[in-house]
Amino acid sequence: MEGFGQPFRRQFVALHISSGMTVLALSLARIVWRLTHTPPLFSAGTKKWEERTAHVAHSILYFMMIAMPLTGWSIISAHPPKPGAGANVWGLLLRAGDRAGSPY
Ligand code: HEM
Repeated sequence: MEGFGQPFRRQFVALHISSGMTVLALSLARIVWRLTHTPPLFSAGTKKWEERTAHVAHSILYFMMIAMPLTGWSIISAHPPKPGAGANVWGLLLRAGDRAGSPY
């Protein structure tokens, strides 16, 4: 990102933040759905180790889909673009486009 101009960089980071927050919301919705619905059975002939591998892989994926946006959110909360904006995500998103002079 260092090679880009400030306006482009601000727009890009704003898009990055709103996309990341969307990933967080959709992932949480998906987890609620998964916990309240029975998943389809594995195909006949699937081996036990394959089922376990699928569970482990999916658990890692779900963990990352929650952990990545939360990490970004905590970074931006620790270093708010403007005083007081860090914890106020909706304000942060709404003001994402007009932060002259701020790297974010
Ligand atoms: C699926 C969600 C997300 C993924 C996969 C992701 C991934 C990344 C990656 C790969 C970087 C670059 C790190 C580097 O420079 O080495 C980054 C930077 C950053 N992310 Fe995220 N992120 C996500 C969500 C978020 C969210 C939700 C926020 C804030 C609420 C956020 C805030 C930031 C910030 C402030 C930077 C530094 C930008 C800069 O100044 O270069 N991210 N993110």
